[in-house]
Amino acid sequence: MSEFSESQWARLEFSRDYVDNADNFIVQRAMMFDVLMSYYRHFMLGRGDVNARGILDLGCGDGVITHMLLRLDNDAHATLVDGSVDMLDKARARLKGVSGVKFIHASFEEIIGDDILPRGVDFVASSLAIHHLNMTAKTLLLRKIYDALKPDGHFLNIDVVIAPCQSLEDWYMALWKEWIIQRQASLRLEANYDHIPAKYKSLGENQPDTLDDQLEAMRDIGFYDTDCFYKHGIFTIFGGKK
Ligand SMILES: C[S@@+](CC[C@H](N)C(=O)[O-])C[C@H]1O[C@@H](n2cnc3c(N)ncnc32)[C@H](O)[C@@H]1O
Repeated sequence: MSEFSESQWARLEFSRDYVDNADNFIVQRAMMFDVLMSYYRHFMLGRGDVNARGILDLGCGDGVITHMLLRLDNDAHATLVDGSVDMLDKARARLKGVSGVKFIHASFEEIIGDDILPRGVDFVASSLAIHHLNMTAKTLLLRKIYDALKPDGHFLNIDVVIAPCQSLEDWYMALWKEWIIQRQASLRLEANYDHIPAKYKSLGENQPDTLDDQLEAMRDIGFYDTDCFYKHGIFTIFGGKK
């Protein structure tokens, strides 16, 4: 299992660059967040039986997802977890003055090996973080997520996956690069991000697995109503219910 402290995310400039520029190289990031919000509105706010819902945000970064969810659901409270002190500081700054938020500094590796996550959570969200674990560790983390959830709780994961074959993976990389180039042109961006797909491939800490393998692991653990809710090349949203 790779250690968080050895990853790029432990470097200040790397996390700062991500927070400042992610919209320019994460395909349809705003749209993926819209899908997440719609899922939450439908499955969490649509249920009249739960008040003061508990949210867990794994690999929270600067807290962007929790911030959106808490704006949608004023009664909710949230626990944000990240391995990066710098990211947690950014999340604290973003959520300053917002009540019902708690921060935990822990890597996924520490979460897997210990009893760190809260229990009785209604909704677990994660965005573009779990692909840093190999499939064995992903499965162990999914089990921890399952244990953290209440019965009827939901887990939704926005993440990158690997294609089931090389020819599709090659096209997905080309598709990603095309999206970046088109966005740069339409917004007349001065900075160039078209090297990002190649950089993503070159970093050993990115360990995406196939969508099928991850959905199957979820089902084996006991999640149901599992599905892929969005897909564009390697970018996916998938999840399920306890
Ligand atoms: C691409 S950022 C995404 C941040 C945020 N969820 C978003 O969508 O903007 C990935 C986040 O996962 C965290 N992360 C990466 N590997 C991790 C690990 N092994 N344990 C805990 N956090 C990790 C990083 O510090 C970073 O904040």
